[in-house]
Amino acid sequence: MALVAGVDSSTQACKVVVRDAETGRLVREGRASHPEGTEVDPEAWWTALETALDQAGGLDDVEALSVGGQQHGMVCLDEDGRVVRPALLWNDTRSAGAATDLIAELGHGDAARGRQAWADAVGLVPVASFTVTKLRWLARAEPERAARVAAVCLPHDWLTWRLAGTGRLEDLVTDRGDASGTGYWSPATESYRTDLLELGFGRSLVLPRVLGPAERAGQVAGGRTLLGPGTGDNAAAALGVGAQVGDVVLSLGTSGVVSTVSTTPAADPSGIVAGFADATGHFLPLVVTLNAARVLDATARLLGVDHDVLSRLALSAPEGSGGLVLVPYLEGERTPDKPWSTGAVHGLTLATSDPAHLARAAVEGLLCGLADGLDAIRSTGSEARRVLLVGGAARSEAVRRLAPAVLGVPVLVPPPGEYVADGAARQAAWVLGGGEAAPEWPASETQSYDAPATPDVRARYAEVRDLTAARLEPSA
Ligand code: XUL
Repeated sequence: MALVAGVDSSTQACKVVVRDAETGRLVREGRASHPEGTEVDPEAWWTALETALDQAGGLDDVEALSVGGQQHGMVCLDEDGRVVRPALLWNDTRSAGAATDLIAELGHGDAARGRQAWADAVGLVPVASFTVTKLRWLARAEPERAARVAAVCLPHDWLTWRLAGTGRLEDLVTDRGDASGTGYWSPATESYRTDLLELGFGRSLVLPRVLGPAERAGQVAGGRTLLGPGTGDNAAAALGVGAQVGDVVLSLGTSGVVSTVSTTPAADPSGIVAGFADATGHFLPLVVTLNAARVLDATARLLGVDHDVLSRLALSAPEGSGGLVLVPYLEGERTPDKPWSTGAVHGLTLATSDPAHLARAAVEGLLCGLADGLDAIRSTGSEARRVLLVGGAARSEAVRRLAPAVLGVPVLVPPPGEYVADGAARQAAWVLGGGEAAPEWPASETQSYDAPATPDVRARYAEVRDLTAARLEPSA
């Protein structure tokens, strides 16, 4: 039995799974925490990876390994391969001003033109999450550190490079999926836009070589374990749940992520849809919302109930919650871009003023927010055949049962799992076996949910969303 390992170096923790390369059966696993904060010394990821690998029984009998990791984080190296400063993570917002500047600069002062130009060039419109904006921030805010930077890479690239252990900058590698979140690699042409890197940072840098989906990245230093190219966490999750073209992966964790495996690259000048690539040679247009599982946490807290009761209450109320709408922007919102917004409840009457209606409005509001994201992806030309629902809030029976009605497509719920690490392990098995496509591991038992679409619920939600958002606009 050949074994492969998959790593998920996420914002909070490092998780490792060791699986049978042929059947996908889980053999061992390990886990270690990452430090809090939006800037982190990459050495902490390395220590966590070593701990998690030890817990997972080490690599002596493992034939291949791939690393999946949080996207976008800026890891800067000097010419000797030393880390220049703590990595700025995807959720660090200090480069928001840099994003605005980069849009204006590419548009020669015209923001709309700039957005279109960025979308055409790299499938993204800069926001603080993306690496190119972090490089601009570094160049302007920390010129002395910036002067020492010789190479830039992403969290998963750096971990793969450390595992290979050559220490040479020219051995840095990445993959299509993670490269597509930098803002200086084009999924449409599969090539770096060094002009945009230079626009961001002011000069060129060594960049990781972009490997194909199953291309070898070398091997682990001092051992015989092959290294796969690895990928970003969202692309790894899509591979881990076995998403096919037309499948939507809806991940309801702290944030909500809607992505679709697509055969065509997306270029959305509104910036709502990020036109990423996936880990199989296709594309992964993706929308991130800030409000997902915690909308249910907050509503349960308001009602003084646990999640099971919240779910039962929601299912006991009528469709559309009798006109009661909860707009779930409890943390502001990224999609739509309303960072200053707050949540709202509208439509209280004597009939709707009870826990059941509020519970239902929370679930419907959460799903309507994500359905807006799915609409945005569809409007870039991607198909949405069915939804694979994962993440903490997928445990809610109310979310599972109401999702197909609100989203308008059938919903499948795989069992809870480490899908990012699983996707990385599947990639490692692909690298090991060669072949045209990732190995077919038997799909886990999914639960299926279907229901007639409820456009009225969406329409009423949209009415209240626009009403309250307009009222909250600072300039209004
Ligand atoms: C995607 C994004 C997040 C991170 C989380 O654009 O910013 O999903 O990848 O790790």
